[in-house]
Amino acid sequence: MSTQEDNVKEVSEDGAEESAETTSVQTGKTDPGNGAEGPIILFFLIGLLISLIIGWVIFPKLLYSHKKQPFDFNHALHMEEVDNGCESCHFFREDGSFSGAPGLAQCIYCHDDLQGVSPDEVVFVENYVANNREVPWLIYSKQPDCVFFSHAAHIKGAHMDCTVCHGYIGESDHLKVYEENRITGYSRDIWGKNIAGLKKNSWDRMKMDDCAECHMEATGRTSSVQTKKDGCFVCHK
Ligand code: HEC
Ligand code: HEC
Ligand code: HEC
Ligand code: HEC
Ligand code: HEC
Repeated sequence: MSTQEDNVKEVSEDGAEESAETTSVQTGKTDPGNGAEGPIILFFLIGLLISLIIGWVIFPKLLYSHKKQPFDFNHALHMEEVDNGCESCHFFREDGSFSGAPGLAQCIYCHDDLQGVSPDEVVFVENYVANNREVPWLIYSKQPDCVFFSHAAHIKGAHMDCTVCHGYIGESDHLKVYEENRITGYSRDIWGKNIAGLKKNSWDRMKMDDCAECHMEATGRTSSVQTKKDGCFVCHK
């Protein structure tokens, strides 16, 4: 121990100004005569701050293009009007497939004519109902074409709640802006809300890892997607 300390002393005594700096850092004492560290730390902090702002604020803004839905839709309002809850618009067809986003058929029963004075309803009735044109909804949870997803397996089979994967869209007053990742073409609901890949809620992200994570928990298996039972064909066409 003591020989090591002696060595350090010796070096710093022999050396030039730089080694004096090393000793002051090692001993934790600040050298009042040495003002060079202040600006360096300041520049480091400014640089760090700039990269953090670019990484967390500017990059995500550039990465995602924002698209608006054809018109706004109020889930909370409609849940008070319909008789059959969510299933009035999102239901299973007789062949077991899921209807997904509703078509005009689910709306014209009430919107043959204007129901109120909302400008969104005017757009809906004049542009779509009157022309018998389906609404081109943007689907937040849209998976790439190579992925097979079955609502029946999860809702009828595993009795899962819509919020587990979609969050609280069904209780919302407004449709949120659709954000599309410019590089991958994925919606932000699939690619992840958080740029670092962190997730707070089960519905923050829906990538392959997220499907696999829940399947492992649900089935008690500790394997990844690569195992025999969880073959790629389960989710890929
Ligand atoms: C009166 C019809 C209607 C009812 C009732 C309704 N929805 Fe919707 N829902 C819509 C329309 C229209 C959209 C817009 C489609 C889009 O672009 O997402 C939508 C979209 C959604 C989406 C987003 C799908 C996606 O990824 O884009 C979810 C999730 C959803 N509804 C869940 C629910 C739940 C849960 C309930 C019941 C609490 C419910 N909805 C009741 C009409 C309805
Ligand atoms: C059970 C009847 C009923 C059905 C079915 C229904 N609506 Fe409505 N809708 C209403 C009523 C009532 C209002 C409220 C009008 C007001 O007070 O402004 C409304 C309001 C609206 C508005 C304006 C408010 C808002 O949500 O932003 C839009 C847009 C709309 N509906 C679209 C749709 C679409 C699209 C569908 C089919 C997926 C649909 N509605 C199905 C009854 C219905
Ligand atoms: C296990 C997760 C999960 C659950 C639970 C779930 N969804 Fe989905 N949902 C998805 C995925 C993934 C997609 C995208 C499917 C695709 O692109 O092939 C989707 C798509 C949708 C769409 C858009 C379909 C389209 O393309 O038109 C609607 C609407 C929807 N879900 C509503 C619901 C409702 C309502 C419930 C509850 C009854 C529900 N989902 C439960 C994962 C889930
Ligand atoms: C929160 C949990 C959860 C999430 C997230 C989830 N699943 Fe599932 N999934 C289940 C459960 C539970 C079952 C039913 C397991 C069974 O029947 O053995 C299931 C079954 C399935 C099946 C039917 C499997 C079979 O053998 O018939 C497919 C396909 C599937 N999931 C695809 C997906 C895809 C794709 C995703 C991601 C987009 C996904 N799942 C996300 C829980 C989940
Ligand atoms: C539990 C369901 C599930 C299983 C099992 C699964 N995948 Fe996937 N895979 C997905 C989903 C969902 C996506 C789209 C989201 C993403 O890119 O993470 C995807 C995306 C991919 C992609 C990228 C395709 C693209 O267009 O972005 C490749 C490559 C892929 N999977 C390969 C595999 C291989 C190889 C296996 C078998 C070892 C496998 N997957 C098993 C759900 C699954």
